[in-house]
Amino acid sequence: MSTWANLGLQDSASPLMEQLIFFHDHALLILVMITVLVGYLMFMLFFNNYINRFLLHGQLIAMIWTILPAIIQLIIALPPLRPLYSLDEINEPSVTLKSIGHQWSWSYEYSDFHNVEFDSYMVPTNELENDGFRLLDVDNRIVLPMNSQIRILVTAADVIHSWTIPALGVKVDGTPGRLNQTNFFMNRPGLFYGQCSEICGANHSFMPIVIESVPVNYFIKWISKNVNS
Ligand code: CUA
Repeated sequence: MSTWANLGLQDSASPLMEQLIFFHDHALLILVMITVLVGYLMFMLFFNNYINRFLLHGQLIAMIWTILPAIIQLIIALPPLRPLYSLDEINEPSVTLKSIGHQWSWSYEYSDFHNVEFDSYMVPTNELENDGFRLLDVDNRIVLPMNSQIRILVTAADVIHSWTIPALGVKVDGTPGRLNQTNFFMNRPGLFYGQCSEICGANHSFMPIVIESVPVNYFIKWISKNVNS
């Protein structure tokens, strides 16, 4: 999760988010180079005293500053294509989780396991444990196995919500009457926090998402306990 003074992206917990961060850094580097060059040229214009009376045209420099930006655009546009299409690839998921947005909470269904289902509400500040995270912790966390392909089905019961987990590179709108799909793969254990990111109403900021990424055998223990109860 994000902590103090963390202005960049969160550490990735999935291979796809790793690729997205690589592209972000790549694009930012090019952006900085262009900004520095243009800034330098604009600054130097103030000290131009028009010495060269016979300068009318420059074919070569005109060619260079036409073709170079086109090449730079290709260098920015081509690398993200592979991660872009990989984001929508479904690779035979081993678990499917259905998440339904409500005003203002999420409810989850594990349809593969006798439809284990529960609601997930934010823990109010006055009921928070000492080690809890304000506006971010929930009463019932999602438990999912790490190192497994996971499919998420997102929808909503009232207004548009958005199921968003920055560390996993997941952001899917939950829209009433539609069923959206995405998938991810968690490559480490841990707690991954997210928030609704559609403006769904007055308490929009109070419907966080928490995923507990655990080894597969822990997940089987957890789900079999919940199937029986
Ligand atoms: Cu649900 Cu914003």
